[in-house]
Amino acid sequence: MTAAGVTAVAYPNIALVKYWGKRDEQWGLPVTGSLSMTLDCFPTTTRVAPAPGARADRVIINGQTAEGAARVRRFLDLVRTLADRPEPAMVESVNAGPTAAGLASSAAGFAALAAAAASAYGLRLDGRALSRLARRGSGSACRSVFGGFVQWHAGTADGPAGDAGSYAEPVPVGAVEPALVVAMTDTGSKAVPSREAMRRTLATSPLYRAWAESSQDDLCRLRSALRQGDLGTVGEIAEHNALGMHATMLAARPAIRYLSGASLAVLDQVASLRAGGVLAYATIDAGPNVVVLCARDDAPRVAAALGEVDQVRSVHVAGPGPGVAIRQGEG
Ligand code: PMV
Repeated sequence: MTAAGVTAVAYPNIALVKYWGKRDEQWGLPVTGSLSMTLDCFPTTTRVAPAPGARADRVIINGQTAEGAARVRRFLDLVRTLADRPEPAMVESVNAGPTAAGLASSAAGFAALAAAAASAYGLRLDGRALSRLARRGSGSACRSVFGGFVQWHAGTADGPAGDAGSYAEPVPVGAVEPALVVAMTDTGSKAVPSREAMRRTLATSPLYRAWAESSQDDLCRLRSALRQGDLGTVGEIAEHNALGMHATMLAARPAIRYLSGASLAVLDQVASLRAGGVLAYATIDAGPNVVVLCARDDAPRVAAALGEVDQVRSVHVAGPGPGVAIRQGEG
């Protein structure tokens, strides 16, 4: 028997200045601030229904009972503690994108779960509080609470005191009509989960501190380029920041390499587009897929060029998408 459920829909986001590394694992507090664009494709739809008669949580992801849904259960425990309600939950989630292939599926997943679970358990949270809650599930999820361009403030304090200062909020942008063109090279799961990869990078990479420091500067410059609607500078900063992040991982012990031959072939194609006068810059998350920032009017041309790369399996054009929303009228 399940009580009335709540359904929420959230979209993935792609960071232009990345989050990579936690200063406090327990509270999900990042070393650096980050800034992303929420996409208008690959949504995750999640329904949470408290189930007073059930013995344990039941989690179904893409139609299959998820045995290893420990992260989801831990997150539900957090919501239950905040709501002071003990009931297990029935969770059903459908993800329209490739899961765990470096396309921010965990961001959309935990943003949708946070919104649906908070509402189903009677927590009344504003956007900022919801982003702080989503952050506890997966760092980048705090940014998917909002639409368009979104900054996640790192905050300064650690532990419970740091919680209030580490949230996401939308950032003002000038007259830009951007697109992100996603070149899928591989839809399989990644070899090293990002949580573990971050830990190892922080602990062993001599390049990490340098990247984290330059990231602060990237963030300031990105904010001002967005405000001015200067897409070329936005792209240049994004590509620099992402390649720097991958450099920190390549220098970890043992090395973590998400970039594949296909990723490098796409980077070459992006460089040729630029050489041909098209504004196009790449960013890459913790996986081999490459996402290319360009002007919306150039997206068909960029998509066609990326589709010509041998190892590219599919190409998707995304625009700025909405923040998380509760689907009205569905129980
Ligand atoms: O949200 P997590 O813990 O899966 O970390 C994601 C990190 C990157 O996607 C690589 C970068 C980012 O800022 O989204």
